[in-house]
Amino acid sequence: MKISIVGSGYVGLITGISLSSLGHRITCIENNKDKVFAINNGKSPFYEPGVDLALKSAIKKGLLQATESLKEGVINSDITIIAVGTPTIDNKIDLTFVKKASEEIGRALRESKKYHVVTVKSTVLPGVTEQVVKPIIEKFSGKSIGEYGLCMSPEFLSEGTAIKDAQEPDRIVIGQYDDKSGMEFAKIYNGSKAPIIFTNLWTAELTKYTANSLLATLISFSNEIARIAEATGKVDILEVWKGVHLDKRLSPINGRVRIKPGVLKFILSGCGYGGSCFPKDTKAIASYADELGIETSLIKSVIEINNTQPIRTVKLLEDVLGKNLAGKKIAVLGLTFKPDTDDLRESPAFPIINELLSEGAIVFGHDPGAYKEGVPPQLSNLGISLANSTEEALKNADGVIVVTSWKEYTQLTPKFFKENMKLPVVIDARRIYNRSSFTNAGVIYKGIGL
Ligand code: UGA
Repeated sequence: MKISIVGSGYVGLITGISLSSLGHRITCIENNKDKVFAINNGKSPFYEPGVDLALKSAIKKGLLQATESLKEGVINSDITIIAVGTPTIDNKIDLTFVKKASEEIGRALRESKKYHVVTVKSTVLPGVTEQVVKPIIEKFSGKSIGEYGLCMSPEFLSEGTAIKDAQEPDRIVIGQYDDKSGMEFAKIYNGSKAPIIFTNLWTAELTKYTANSLLATLISFSNEIARIAEATGKVDILEVWKGVHLDKRLSPINGRVRIKPGVLKFILSGCGYGGSCFPKDTKAIASYADELGIETSLIKSVIEINNTQPIRTVKLLEDVLGKNLAGKKIAVLGLTFKPDTDDLRESPAFPIINELLSEGAIVFGHDPGAYKEGVPPQLSNLGISLANSTEEALKNADGVIVVTSWKEYTQLTPKFFKENMKLPVVIDARRIYNRSSFTNAGVIYKGIGL
């Protein structure tokens, strides 16, 4: 099938690549001409493991191309997927890009004679597809449902594993305005083994927010328990989670084999969640509930715990170095919101760094992915030095906070910290090191939940 995708950000481009692997012809519509040029030359505008290789292969097979012309892309396709950004402004979802895409799609459809399905893949609140997208498309196309189709199908991929997540989805949720829309759109998944859930537009929209809010809730719950563990002075939260994870309802036993579900990754304590999804989606669903008159005290607490969790790592550092960090050199290892991405959005590294700077510390940051292709503005104006190696970041440091669990950091030894730092004070914000081997080696080791 011929599919056009409006927006070549994370969701748009990865969706395009994965659908091309099912044999579809994809046109990525993007108004940033540098991105169009990069994509057509097999270079992804963002970093993601495996994306360049997969993109080049799709282009080589003649299955993917990018264009600035929305009209051309829409008219020459059977299905158009809206995958533009939905940022938050004042805790509310900003639909500017969704509205603009809907208008332009509507104008293009006015000139098309065949049945065309429009599917929203951007994360939007319940009601947006029916109450915002549909009227705009109808106004500008002059068509009504039946002449065109309308679906909402959320994306569940994670950064760092996006290609695999998109090519082998665990489920496909298709919210359909009517049966015909859903049946036509589902054809793009012919050959996929994933279960398809057909539902209405509103349910599909709420499914996405629920999935992300649940994971964010598990993280904040884990961090709240970590605070209790820390306050006792007697408990290591990792041992608590070991005991909890082995509940057979969380990790079932199949014969003699213990299954370790991926969700357990979210029932662990750390310095909080970041990224472009959890922070934005939890805030958006809470303010949507407010509008409905529903009190979401749980989700609001999840947000509040996450807002305060990062700077608890600085308190752990102060427990060792004292309250006055003025003039002390502190290294921060990991600036991205998670490993295997160059994405800095809402990274817990920022509140940590700002707290350190406000206390007068001299901060050296390091990250294997965040500034590989040049220093982004979020980092250039931060007031920290960016190190080219972990050695450089740690050299003569009075303390280090390890914020992101990049593989490169998980492999660092106590000896390495001792040899490079002035004072080997290691704050493990992701609990990636073996506590006893660090303390036995003479490192002053502190971590979340200890
Ligand atoms: C998340 C969801 O996991 C995806 O299912 C969803 O499709 C995506 O958002 C989206 O809405 O687009 P992503 O933001 O890429 O994916 O990253 P995650 O791996 O879920 O991690 C999110 C944050 O939670 C990271 O900052 C990570 O460090 C943090 N986290 C994760 C914790 O703080 N503790 C944990 O135990 C696990």
